[in-house]
Amino acid sequence: MFKFQGADILSVNQFDHASIEYLFTIADTMQPYAHRKKRTRVLDGAILGNLFFEPSTRTRVSFGTAFNLLGGHVRETVGLSSSALAKGESLYDTARVLSSYSDIIAMRHPDSGSVAEFAEGSRVPVINGGDGANEHPTQALLDLYTISKEQSSHGKTIDGMHIAMVGDLKYGRTVHSLSKLLSLYKNIKFTFIAPDELAMPSYIIDIVDKAGHQYEITEQLEGNLDADIVYQTRIQQERFPSEEEANKYRGKFRLNQAIYTQHCKSNTVIMHPLPRDSRADANELDNDMNQNPNLAIFRQADNGVLVRMALFATTLGVESILKDHECDVIWHSQKANLGL
Ligand code: NCD
Repeated sequence: MFKFQGADILSVNQFDHASIEYLFTIADTMQPYAHRKKRTRVLDGAILGNLFFEPSTRTRVSFGTAFNLLGGHVRETVGLSSSALAKGESLYDTARVLSSYSDIIAMRHPDSGSVAEFAEGSRVPVINGGDGANEHPTQALLDLYTISKEQSSHGKTIDGMHIAMVGDLKYGRTVHSLSKLLSLYKNIKFTFIAPDELAMPSYIIDIVDKAGHQYEITEQLEGNLDADIVYQTRIQQERFPSEEEANKYRGKFRLNQAIYTQHCKSNTVIMHPLPRDSRADANELDNDMNQNPNLAIFRQADNGVLVRMALFATTLGVESILKDHECDVIWHSQKANLGL
């Protein structure tokens, strides 16, 4: 099994089935803390360096929230232009310096391989929060955790499931990492729905194929959505050579309640890593699905905190002493009191 303590989390390639199951068991134990039923101060005094050199809301804030919920402090650096990288400093030097200010670092950067390069210079564990179009391991873990919960609520397992991935499968790092993780399971059926120009890279298809899974590659949304999970994605406009190029594909694969009713199964679960592009010319996942109980996007985002708490606890080696540092919550939010 993968040894979490002290490790960098750079790619989903690091994990096997047993390590994922272990991590998910730890994520389950984080529920009372994430829901503010209890507090733990297990990371009291520890500092997370949260370095985000690309736009982010959920990933950045959920890393910070997860660390705070374990009792640690968060120091943020946001934006390439406001860091010394803009003055020509190497990732190695930045890592050497910032790692002596932190106990662990989470990092997002626009270039593939950049987080691994940074980790070479770091003296503390580094967690990849997304490196260009390459990988997004923590998102894939929270996606898989969500899939496992949604499937079990329907009396099903990950093994044997059917997933349709839709949209920008070329530049979408979340679908790259998720496909690799799912390949560790058995008898998955993948349907990859994308314009030819934005198809899933062949090295990912090879991994799925070699692991013996079934897969179909298509440009057609209609008729291909009768899956257990439909994983919708945003056109990754920031990775296209120009905005005009991205505009060619925006709004091509829209999912709304009418399409859901016509083409999905009655209990198909809809996922999206978020943000969904809600502008009229894109709108890949319509607001008219917000009341659909099978829309799992907000449960998925909530699970991000649990999984990231589990990653911090395991990489810092405190997962077995959470309870020793537990204390009561002395406040309650108004919403919680009202049961909202
Ligand atoms: C994704 C990302 O950054 O790759 N977002 C996220 O982390 N939840 C997907 C996206 O930006 O479309």
